[in-house]
Amino acid sequence: MRHFRFHNPVKILFGAGQISNLASQIPQGSKVMMTYGGGSIKKNGVYQQVVKALAPFEFIEFSGIEANPKYETLMRAVEIVRKENVDFLLAVGGGSVIDGTKFIAAATYFDGTDPYEICTQGAKVSKAVPFGTVLTLPATGSEMNNGAVISRLSTQEKYAFASSKTFPRFSILDPTVTLTLPAKQRANGVVDAFVHVTEQYLTYPVQADIQDRFSESILQVLVDNGMEYVNDPENMDVASNVMWACTMALNGLIAAGVPEDWATHQIGHEITALAGLDHAQTLAIVWPGLQRVMEEEKREKLLQFGKRVWNVDDAEAAIAKTEEFFRSLGVGTRFSDYPSVGDAGALIDTIVARFEERGTLLGERSDIDYRKVREILELRK
Ligand code: NZQ
Ligand code: ZN
Repeated sequence: MRHFRFHNPVKILFGAGQISNLASQIPQGSKVMMTYGGGSIKKNGVYQQVVKALAPFEFIEFSGIEANPKYETLMRAVEIVRKENVDFLLAVGGGSVIDGTKFIAAATYFDGTDPYEICTQGAKVSKAVPFGTVLTLPATGSEMNNGAVISRLSTQEKYAFASSKTFPRFSILDPTVTLTLPAKQRANGVVDAFVHVTEQYLTYPVQADIQDRFSESILQVLVDNGMEYVNDPENMDVASNVMWACTMALNGLIAAGVPEDWATHQIGHEITALAGLDHAQTLAIVWPGLQRVMEEEKREKLLQFGKRVWNVDDAEAAIAKTEEFFRSLGVGTRFSDYPSVGDAGALIDTIVARFEERGTLLGERSDIDYRKVREILELRK
């Protein structure tokens, strides 16, 4: 196990009814801006619960943060935050609303000319507006981490950033808010969390037994509950376990002291940026190809993963089982499963050209170059 520091300042309020405790988490006298998406929160009563809980505060609203949140939309919110002297943000939604709110928080105090440099060039975030979250979609883990992924319409880019200033102050995790989630979003959430774990686990062994066993337990909980979560929205034990698994999958815990991959995510972001597929759909496409192309380099961990999670003895069987799992949830694992992609060959060419031009090297050993990206994607047509 390598040297590490572990720090996670996010306070979690978990369980049914926790939204009513919102007011006590926000500093008294704050002027609050509540941020949300396209309106799902108005249909399931979350909006009404939040508005009620915010009664002691002066607050305004910013709605319309879209899936894969767009820089252009978020900069409109930044203007309002500055103009209205907002001093606390409250994100109510899934990963997109939470990520978008992290960017609003950071961009408000950005003193250069183009705040998107926070994402593209790692421009320093020296200060951010404090914020909390009410999570409505278990998937990304954004509610307990400091990262965000922001898209820019004008350039068809999708880039991530992370800063010590963009941890939520608190996150409210009430599993009953998942009742209204469509099956597609449920399945997406399970796949996303599964791949978050493998990005931090399916690399090479460093004798980090706790991280390995935690990772395997999160994967097992997702496998055990995934199907039922997609098919039986009423089961709150299942929803609770999935929600907590998703949060634990990307809050820094299993990443401590171990190598990390993230190539599936980085390739996936290009697919979303260029072809508009959901984040988890891109992961389900890329993952089996990446594991197969990198099978030799990942062999030891793939065998451990196969044995402990799927009860199989070889690497290929472990990959096949995982792909089967994604498909059983209803998430397509090939470009051909998504007619909206159109010509997959042309999309692959564009993605490969982007990586070649940027000279990007991906993976835990920085050994996935644009040629390997092509190999991976060609397997997924
Ligand atoms: O916009 P509304 O109307 O709220 O509808 C949303 C949206 O259409 C809907 N939804 C959310 N909660 C609901 C609900 N519908 C009914 N009932 C509810 N309770 O679901 C749709 C998708 O929401 P979105 O927030 O886009 O999904 P998700 O949570 O999967 O977030 C995806 C985004 O997070 C990024 C992704 O790249 C993508 O942009 N990620 C963020 C990460 C992080 N910050 O750590 C890590 C991830 O790897 C990921 O990259
Ligand atoms: Zn993800």
